Amino acid sequence: MEKRAAQGKLGRRQFAGGAMATAGVSLLATPSLALPDKSAALCESIGPLALPEGAAYTPGIAVDRRARKPIFLPGPGAGYAAHAVSEVLFWTDIMMEHAMFISLLMPGDHLRGPRSEARRFQDLFARHFLSARDSGYADYGISPLLSSTRSSVQRFIEYKRRMQRAQESGSLRSLVWPLFFDHIAREAERFVVRLDRLAYGDTALQSDEVSAFWTRIMADHLEFIAHLLDPQERALVDQAVERAGQLYEAHAFRVDSGQLATLADEVIDFKTAAEQGIETGQIKSIIDPALADHVLREAVRFSDEVRRAQ
Ligand SMILES: [Fe+2]
Repeated sequence: MEKRAAQGKLGRRQFAGGAMATAGVSLLATPSLALPDKSAALCESIGPLALPEGAAYTPGIAVDRRARKPIFLPGPGAGYAAHAVSEVLFWTDIMMEHAMFISLLMPGDHLRGPRSEARRFQDLFARHFLSARDSGYADYGISPLLSSTRSSVQRFIEYKRRMQRAQESGSLRSLVWPLFFDHIAREAERFVVRLDRLAYGDTALQSDEVSAFWTRIMADHLEFIAHLLDPQERALVDQAVERAGQLYEAHAFRVDSGQLATLADEVIDFKTAAEQGIETGQIKSIIDPALADHVLREAVRFSDEVRRAQ
């Protein structure tokens, strides 16, 4: 599927920061600020892991290419194994990135402990993802995959909720909002529920549950976006807040599946345009392109689940 072109929704603006950006680079490059070699060796590596690219081995899994990274979904007519493995692939990739975002938002020596824990989760979920992607599963051989993934997700939920409590109480001073910890813990908790259902052979999605879960997740994303845009991107901040309000309303009052599908498509369009604007520097923000891509992939999953739910 072709990546959608961002048109219209966000408007376009000439990027006028080129001269300032060049000046910033030259300041950082002055000899007095250069790092000595041995300090560079002590730098921790934080950020995306370099994973080998590849297709899923299990037959029946489709790849949606609307985001930068592949989005694994059950293809038309997918059987039990394809449903289970595609769900594991989607969410283990998301869990790996949650750990990366947490580690990026825990700077400094005093946060080395919780940051190292996050890095270990990033490695762990990268291993889960690769082993699920690079093995060919049949319907009768899924149990070990589901149970080993479940136990890692449970440990990650404990970490996320522990960090949330610490951030809320003031004993942790990271750059992670309590709502972000809560949001990513809810996603992991829902993944555990899905793994349990899959373990019983149940691949069905209930429309009420899909609606309740995703409308709140999408509303959170739009609030995150609103708070990470440059304060002077007022029109976009207003749009993000307004769309979050629509989704909170859909969460509170429930809407029919047709309206939900429309909402999902609108969120995808908004996030696609935002991602491209951020990447090309036309939108000022502190949104990491990897985060923009992450929330776009979740919106595509939302849309897919709305269409599959009963
Ligand atoms: Fe999310």
